[in-house]
Amino acid sequence: MEVGGIQALRRWRAEQSGRVGLVPTMGALHSGHQALMTRARAEADLVVTSIFVNPLQFGADEDFVQYPRPIEADLQKCEEAGVDFVFAPALAEMYPSAPEVRVVAGRMGAVFEGAARPGHFDGVLTVVAKLFTLIAPDVTVFGLKDIQQFCLVKRMIADLNFDIELIGLPVVRDGDGLAMSSRNEYLTGPDRERALAIPRALDAAADVAAGPAEVEAAARAVLEGAAARGDLEVIYLSLVDAADLRQCTPDFRGSALLLVSANVGGTHLIDNLPLEF
Ligand code: PAF
Repeated sequence: MEVGGIQALRRWRAEQSGRVGLVPTMGALHSGHQALMTRARAEADLVVTSIFVNPLQFGADEDFVQYPRPIEADLQKCEEAGVDFVFAPALAEMYPSAPEVRVVAGRMGAVFEGAARPGHFDGVLTVVAKLFTLIAPDVTVFGLKDIQQFCLVKRMIADLNFDIELIGLPVVRDGDGLAMSSRNEYLTGPDRERALAIPRALDAAADVAAGPAEVEAAARAVLEGAAARGDLEVIYLSLVDAADLRQCTPDFRGSALLLVSANVGGTHLIDNLPLEF
C-alpha cells in the first residue's frame, strides 16, 4: 500500500491501467468505512482511499480542530481492507489559499443538514470534485448514512458530467442498532443509550404498514418521547421524496427517505431509512 499527497498520487495514477475505485473519507475510520473499501475492492482493480479533514465543510463553531485524526490506526485499517493507495494530502496542498471558485450545492444542499450547517454541502462538493479530478476514479463508493451527501454527489456527477459510477452502501450499524459514525466517539456515558432512540424511531416507522403520514407519525412519537425525557433534541424528522428531498405528500407513491437528525449531549447524529410507498 502506498501513502502520499498530490505528487505521489499523480505519479502512482499515471502508472495504473486498471479500473480505479475511490472511497473518500475524513479518517477516524471504523468498520463502516472498511465496508466501503471492501465494496470498492469488489468493483475495481485498484482502490484509493482519501483521508482529508476538509475545513471547507465545517462551520466556524464546528469541530474541525477537534475532529479525530488517528492516522496510524487509519492506515492500518486501510491496509487490512486491501487499499492500494491512501491519498492523505496536507491542508496546504489541497488549499494553498482559500478557494475563490467552489461548487454550489443549490436547493438540495440548503435543506436539512444544509439548513443546520450553512455552506456545509458547498464545502463537501468542492472537495469531492477536487478528489474526482485528482484521482480520476472509474467508480466511487459512498455510505448511505450521509444520505443527503449521497444525493448531492449523485446530482453533481450528473450536472458536472463526471464520468464516474456512484455506488451507495447501506447504513452499517453497531450491534445496538446505532448507525456507525466517527462522531459516535463523542457519545460518553448514558448518551450512547439515549442515542438509541434514533434507530428505534426508524424501526417504528419500518413496522407501520400504512401511508406516508402514519409512517412519519410513528417515528415522531418515539423521538418526541425521547425529547420529552430530555434524552435528545430533535433537529429534524422528515419523510421526503428520494429523488429531490422534497417533503412527501400524504398520497405520495414511489421511493422515499425518512430523514432524522438529533443532538444527543452535544453530539450531532443523523440517520435515515429508505421506504417504498
Ligand atoms: O463523508 C465524508 O467523510 C466527507 O464529507 C467526504 C465525502 C470525505 C468529503 O470530505
